[in-house]
Amino acid sequence: MAAATLSFLCFFLLVIGMAFFKGHGVGVNWGKMATHQLPSDMVVRMLIDSGFDKVKLFDADADTLAALAGTDIEVMVAIPNYMLEGLSGDPQAAVDWVDENVTSWNYTGGVNIRYVAVGNEPFLQTYKGIYNELTLPALMNIQKALNDAGLGGRIKATVPFNADIYNSPGSNPIPSAGDFRSDIRDSAIQIIRFLSENDAPFVVNIYPFLSLYDDDHFPMDFAFFEGTNKTIKDGDAVYTNVFDANFDTLVWSLKKAGYPDMPIIVGEVGWPTDGDKNANTEMAKEFNQGLLQHLMSGMGTPARKGSNIDVYLFSLIDEDAKSIAPGNFERHWGIFEYDGKPKYELDLSGHEEDDNLMSAHGVKYLQRRWCILDPDATDLTSLPGSINFACTFSDCTSLGYGSSCNHLDLRGNASYAFNMYYQVRNQKAGDCDFSDLAMITDEDPSDEKCRFPVMIAYSSVAAPERRVLDLLVAILGGLSAFLFL
Ligand SMILES: *[C@@H]1O[C@H](CO)[C@@H](O)[C@H](O)[C@H]1NC(C)=O
Ligand SMILES: *[C@@H]1O[C@H](CO)[C@@H](O)[C@H](O)[C@H]1NC(C)=O
Ligand SMILES: *[C@@H]1O[C@H](CO)[C@@H](O)[C@H](O)[C@H]1NC(C)=O
Ligand SMILES: *[C@@H]1O[C@H](CO)[C@@H](O)[C@H](O)[C@H]1NC(C)=O
Repeated sequence: MAAATLSFLCFFLLVIGMAFFKGHGVGVNWGKMATHQLPSDMVVRMLIDSGFDKVKLFDADADTLAALAGTDIEVMVAIPNYMLEGLSGDPQAAVDWVDENVTSWNYTGGVNIRYVAVGNEPFLQTYKGIYNELTLPALMNIQKALNDAGLGGRIKATVPFNADIYNSPGSNPIPSAGDFRSDIRDSAIQIIRFLSENDAPFVVNIYPFLSLYDDDHFPMDFAFFEGTNKTIKDGDAVYTNVFDANFDTLVWSLKKAGYPDMPIIVGEVGWPTDGDKNANTEMAKEFNQGLLQHLMSGMGTPARKGSNIDVYLFSLIDEDAKSIAPGNFERHWGIFEYDGKPKYELDLSGHEEDDNLMSAHGVKYLQRRWCILDPDATDLTSLPGSINFACTFSDCTSLGYGSSCNHLDLRGNASYAFNMYYQVRNQKAGDCDFSDLAMITDEDPSDEKCRFPVMIAYSSVAAPERRVLDLLVAILGGLSAFLFL
């Protein structure tokens, strides 16, 4: 009897708990730097089916917003860094931006925009300060335009920062030693004051993967959430994972700046699945699932006990046209493949329920065929040049050290490169030639680890870089034809 009552009570609490956490769903970053993209409507359906209730964009692309219209998904639209200059010096430009990209979506059945991200990691050290003086004025102009449009109560302008504004490597051995980087400390605090006055959150991007990538001696299990024998003790607090330590370094930095209660949103956090020895689906799943379970437990972090932390996972879908300056892994952050298939199971509720990620529906592919090196080819002298050409205009990051196709031999490399080029060029006749060394096959050349994709039958929407790329391909293609003939 008592046991039954108790178990009923437990069940009751669980239901309450679940209802409570439902309101604190998981967000995801939806970037569009891919050569081929699923239609936005299809992606939005996939988001809803999978249970995401927040999305963070990197612009305010009308096609994306039209697809999000009429859904309950909370949206963070964004202003890219290159627009900061114009918006900082000209309040009217900010009024126009808000008019076109926010107000015009504010109607019954419109888009549930909640935040405007002004710039993306503008104080990143690698930018060498070029956005330091532009960010606050742009932020102020945008918030004022939102206020004047009658939207400021519900829609907040903010700035997503990289954790490098307080977490320069080696400088903060313990979270309570945290403080903002000295070169941007004053600017950061001015921004924080403005955010605080407007009830806007502080947004930070946190990357435990990069801690591991940047430092071969970084304790592996400290990057995850399964416990570790390398804890960090900070006064009474004990840290068992780098996410909490990083987050609390920010909490302490904010405290020292006079804003101990500033709300924090994690704008990007995630783990890539290829392009490095520590990037694979197992580790990505372990990290993301561990993170969600940790966050949904409601424990908070040692410096913010019991708090719910809002996160946007990075990222939704792989983007094969991203710059690989940070590393080969940069094109493999997706929880979903380029074709909308989940790479691994992930329970967004954090309760080990069986609601899992759902694939995109009705995806169209190009024909099931591949371009490979002709097995009978004997004169391979032109091969390195051809591989280089193919990889310059497609994505060969899976061939690199520690990646899924790194075990291929020279012939395998050539086939992989030829196929990536052929697929990215939409299997156009003439794009599987390579000085007569290539051939088309309908037998899948993939092996257990290395997958040769067939491209989806959609091209990216009006990406200007794409046109430049096409032009370059035409020129270089002509050139190499000239050289190899
Ligand atoms: C609205 O956003 C789009 C996409 O980010 C941008 O290209 C456009 O310039 C913005 N509109 C204005 C008036 O700034
Ligand atoms: C924007 O949307 C909100 C909520 O639907 C509504 O109350 C408000 O009147 C709208 N504002 C404008 C300027 O249309
Ligand atoms: C301690 O950490 C090392 C390195 O990550 C690991 O191999 C080992 O299993 C851990 N030991 C315990 C007792 O957790
Ligand atoms: C295949 O290509 C990768 C990436 O360019 C390179 O690291 C590897 O050495 C190549 N393998 C052979 C056998 O050429």
